[in-house]
Amino acid sequence: MPAPRKKPTSKIAPVITARLNGRFSLQMQADGNVVISLGDHLVSLGPLSAAAMDRAGHLTTGLPLASFAGKSALAREVDVLVHRLARHGLLEYRLSSPGDERDVVVIEPQVPEYWPQRAKLGDGDTVVLSRFAYLRRRGNEMVLESPRAGALFRIGDPAIAATLAALSRPQKIGKLRRQAASVNLDLVGLLLDSQILLKLDAKSGEGLRLNEGDGNLVLWDFHDLVFHTRSTEGRQANLLGGTFAYAGAVPPLPAVRAPWPGKTIDLRKFSISEPISSFAKLLRERRSIRDFDDEHPVTLAELAQFLDTTARVLSEWKSGASFDGGPEVTYSTRPYPSAGSAYELELYLAVSNCEGLARGLYHYDAGGHALVAIGASAQQLHSLSTAAEFAMDAPGPPQVLIMIAARFGRISWKYSSIAYSLILKDVGIMLQTFYLAATDMGLGGCAIGITNIDLFAKMTELEFHVESPVGQFALGRGKKPLAAS
Ligand SMILES: Cc1cc2nc3c(=O)[nH]c(=O)nc-3n(C[C@H](O)[C@H](O)[C@H](O)COP(=O)(O)O)c2cc1C
Repeated sequence: MPAPRKKPTSKIAPVITARLNGRFSLQMQADGNVVISLGDHLVSLGPLSAAAMDRAGHLTTGLPLASFAGKSALAREVDVLVHRLARHGLLEYRLSSPGDERDVVVIEPQVPEYWPQRAKLGDGDTVVLSRFAYLRRRGNEMVLESPRAGALFRIGDPAIAATLAALSRPQKIGKLRRQAASVNLDLVGLLLDSQILLKLDAKSGEGLRLNEGDGNLVLWDFHDLVFHTRSTEGRQANLLGGTFAYAGAVPPLPAVRAPWPGKTIDLRKFSISEPISSFAKLLRERRSIRDFDDEHPVTLAELAQFLDTTARVLSEWKSGASFDGGPEVTYSTRPYPSAGSAYELELYLAVSNCEGLARGLYHYDAGGHALVAIGASAQQLHSLSTAAEFAMDAPGPPQVLIMIAARFGRISWKYSSIAYSLILKDVGIMLQTFYLAATDMGLGGCAIGITNIDLFAKMTELEFHVESPVGQFALGRGKKPLAAS
């Protein structure tokens, strides 16, 4: 007779609570509206009953999600408020056992829509860590992150880190539960939902890289996907841009490098005061223009000429079988150079004010030299041009905002490890091409360093790892400098 199976010791189910992420507190105003102060401005969260406000007060320490999951009017009111706070990025979620004061796991959302969901799991399921997941020290904490995840997980219990290490190999849930006391299915379910873990089905073979996501994800190296999501806006909650984070700690480097002490050959005697060619003159005249003349916007004809000059496909050609040591591939020729002749960059135009062209989002079909309309909402377009205006500290939105997106697979199919860095170099080349063409045509423009990959994904319905923005350029007719009085 087989020995009776040992009944697993029953565990107290962990609780997920939502709490305000530290820096903020809710205030009820005299008119019944609830506000939260963000820096120097107040965000209104709408009216709230006194009972709901009383319940919401627990958000400072932690309000169990289950406490407002019901159908009562009070639960619904609190639910609306909590979701609103979540969309503003003001909440984090704590996973703990009842009565346990420790923050065993705290979830920090990285995208506005994140809401803790537990993927369903059975003892027979097999899970493994995503190859994009990583555990690192941040200050005094250990954080578990992944560029694919909508949230990061602060790990407060070293036993959980040990279990995560064990998950570098596929593990059956039943076995894992029997072996490691710290494993709770809620956490595993949350990690699975965040794509930090993946479930392998019966057909999955040893090729874990192929088992994760779609064919486009296969082409990504770990560091490249981390770089893409951490150097853009939309899929991370860190502050980004000119934050002067180290201004108090380290002085700035000088604007011009100090000369080396060696023998100097003075070149100034060869210089002439006037530029010697029209190209040298163009380089000298180029400036970033952020203020546009909305009374006389850029015209469709000018936009067509600008795209023709800078980005149009000039010809297509097939490589021989031995070109670059690879298989036969179709290439194109365009006005600017591109790493490996990949020409992975695509142009998406958010048009706010262009004579002869309706407001909207367009893709530039560089092969057909045509603009193709994409159905983005007016609100999305507004968010995009407002962010560009803010990034340039400009008095108004750009007349045309050119988003430079990359078809990542076009370049990573060939290049490992350096694919993303090549893309960014290509973007730099494209930006200078735009600057020079705009200057030559009497138009104005400015590069923009920040791009929102989440907003672009929503506007185009293209996943951020398939085709996503890597640069932006604001284009328009610059305001003429005021004549000296
Ligand atoms: C890659 C890159 C990113 C830039 N990002 C911004 C930006 O986000 N906002 C902005 O106002 N200017 C931006 N600029 C413009 C620079 O501030 C500008 O080129 C620099 O101040 C030199 O001025 P000039 O272009 O007028 O010669 C960017 C330029 C480059 C090349």
